[in-house]
Amino acid sequence: MQTVIARCDGLASQPTPPTLRQLAELLAAVELSGEALREAQRPDPRRPYGRRVFLDTPVMEGMLATWTPGAWCAPHDHGGSVGGVRVLQGRARHRVFCVRDGGLALLREEQIEAGAVISCGPSLVHAMRCDGGDAGLVTLHLYAGPIPWMTVYDVEGQETLQVSGGCGAWIPHDQPELIRARAPGLVPPQAFPSDAT
Ligand SMILES: [Fe+2]
Repeated sequence: MQTVIARCDGLASQPTPPTLRQLAELLAAVELSGEALREAQRPDPRRPYGRRVFLDTPVMEGMLATWTPGAWCAPHDHGGSVGGVRVLQGRARHRVFCVRDGGLALLREEQIEAGAVISCGPSLVHAMRCDGGDAGLVTLHLYAGPIPWMTVYDVEGQETLQVSGGCGAWIPHDQPELIRARAPGLVPPQAFPSDAT
């Protein structure tokens, strides 16, 4: 993990947040495999993924996700931040949504193989899960940050939550203090009053 952190140092120590392109290029260049990858993982079976934040500076956030087999994360955005996700191990199923007419319309569903990088624009709403295969899914996430908050969609409960950036992409039933605002139905992030953002 130290080699990944060292690679991030250049961008993380700049005075301004990195661009999406810079993050994607860095993600593509990262090498983490074998024993180092096994040691870096932090599974959390209570959640869709175990969340290991390894970098948290005024301009950049880095997180390693160790996915729980079979579990989708909740559809979410990244609070307007840009970022990228690199599949380090395993295979991901990725869904991209559009929020409209009180629901989430599926725009795209794709399989993401090991080595690939997903670019996350500032208004992306998406969800992921482990898509089977011999190796568990492990993903590396870099964002221009820190992410101040996220919009998380509770599709089952038909509610939209704005959660703090320290929460993962799930409904924090056991940590309600992470919920900053909530709105009935599935609504765009802009629906929240400006003082909540
Ligand atoms: Fe995400």
